[in-house]
Amino acid sequence: MVHQYDFLVIGSGIAGMSFALKVADKGKVAILCKSSLEEANTSYAQGGIASVMKQTDNFEKHIQDTITAGDNICDRDVVEKVVKEAPAQIKELISWGVDFDKDEKGNFDLHREGGHSEFRILHHKDTTGSEIQESLIQQVKHHPNIDVFNNHFAIEILTQHHLGQIVTRHTPDIECYGAYVLDNNTRNIDTFLAKITLIATGGIGNVYHTTTNPVIATGDGIAMVHRARGVIRDMEFVQFHPTALYHPGERPSFLITEAMRGYGALLRTSDGKEFMHKYDARGALAPRDIVARAIDNEMKNRGDDCVYLDVRHKDAEETKNHFPNIYQHCLDLGIDITKDMIPVAPAAHYLCGGISVDLDGQSTINRLYAAGECSRTGLHGANRLASNSLIEAVVYADAVAKHALQRLDNYSYKDFPSWDDSGTSLPEENVLITQSVKEVQQIMSTYVGIVRSNLRLQRALSRLEILYRETESLFDRSVVSKEICELRNIISVGYLIIKQAMQRKESRGLHYTIDYPDPCKAGGEEASK
Ligand code: FAD
Ligand code: SIN
Repeated sequence: MVHQYDFLVIGSGIAGMSFALKVADKGKVAILCKSSLEEANTSYAQGGIASVMKQTDNFEKHIQDTITAGDNICDRDVVEKVVKEAPAQIKELISWGVDFDKDEKGNFDLHREGGHSEFRILHHKDTTGSEIQESLIQQVKHHPNIDVFNNHFAIEILTQHHLGQIVTRHTPDIECYGAYVLDNNTRNIDTFLAKITLIATGGIGNVYHTTTNPVIATGDGIAMVHRARGVIRDMEFVQFHPTALYHPGERPSFLITEAMRGYGALLRTSDGKEFMHKYDARGALAPRDIVARAIDNEMKNRGDDCVYLDVRHKDAEETKNHFPNIYQHCLDLGIDITKDMIPVAPAAHYLCGGISVDLDGQSTINRLYAAGECSRTGLHGANRLASNSLIEAVVYADAVAKHALQRLDNYSYKDFPSWDDSGTSLPEENVLITQSVKEVQQIMSTYVGIVRSNLRLQRALSRLEILYRETESLFDRSVVSKEICELRNIISVGYLIIKQAMQRKESRGLHYTIDYPDPCKAGGEEASK
């Protein structure tokens, strides 16, 4: 089946849905999601969304905090853009129904998180993400120009390659015409043609064994763009959240928001000793890369599986009121956070790199844009400042909308051949896929985690190459399924992380390697690709 739209949006998180709402009055929009509209990293966000909102704060402070957290390799023009455009985007979210908490005086109740010098995190209790997701879903469902395709899995973006042309990384003017999409309801592969395609496929957490990300986060958009010969950057900067609840067997790992440390929670080892001041004067509120490494070090030195977050000294009612979701989740597992310390350990959480885009959100492939976690804008540098992700996603959705709306005229759709599945059959045994997924996750967590080395990266690469060859061969002879596509994608993403980590011969932000423990003197520029 062939579908024809003005805009094809792959992803229904904050980036995809806010973009759709911004353009839908001017053209027909298709939103694809591989599961349901609700199932996106956005729904899981807890802490909130960063924006300068009060008089004692200012843009320069937010800019500086972002650049410091990013270990001085953020793109300053991008940081300025996001910080300065944030308040207007917050207003638009509110106009779409998002309810941010206010104090008794009617002012926004702003939180503070690691690396922020000011209270500037807008939030809805500790469930900010689901509040945003639900509000956007309501708007999207009621817009007559937006069609939603649940259970539709984008496999490949369409380029000249699918018209028989040879496309390499040096081909100028690669163009995107839409995507091949697996309709998981019918098992058919449909062709979606579009004047403009936005990749908004979110994160990559499931490349790792332990992650805060839901199962949809398999880096599909990044892998698709890589296969289509687009540029992918900064993949070595994978953020591990310091405080995911340590509860073996729970997937995804439940997050204990950083806002809890902003509220006064302390990190302790199992003998009750507070340890963060040994590592950084900012203590538990140091940027994430530093806190995650400190926890990793304490766990390894002591041979422990976790450390503890302690909020017992705070008023119990206030704690329950601020963090109702965390309180209830922990209580269900037998942990009363007002009386017990909370066991926590780092987990893969966020990717700073991704599809390289310019200030308009355009990728290196013509008519293909990216926004949200799958994109690499230059905002985060080597480490993302807490709560800067949701705001980056809406600011860039806006930039893409403004740019793309000027390109709707004088476009003629091309004819593409249907997906060719000749010579394929149903996969022999699913275990060939499920076991390989586990292996990728183990390899990445063991060798390409918080602390790296040349030897570990090389070992990971050799192991991944074997899995790559086996999987490509299986893919070539199998009827396409979501499961095999996701396996291919996590292998591609793992490969990109390893290769780009190998090229960075320094420790910077989230990329720490024992072979080059210091940052390059030139500010990492020579290591940037
Ligand atoms: P997502 O919200 O992840 O949406 C991705 C969409 O793409 C989904 O609809 C999915 O179905 C779709 N998709 C993916 N692949 C395909 C495919 N092949 N075909 C079709 N559809 C596809 N950030 C903050 O700023 N503040 C916070 O407080 C915060 N807390 C967080 C807490 C947790 C537990 C997690 C996991 C993340 C948190 N983050 C936070 C990060 C932030 O939530 C994400 O970076 C952000 O929501 C990503 O939004 P997105 O629109 O880019 O992608
Ligand atoms: C958190 O609430 O700690 C997550 C915030 C973020 O990832 O930005």
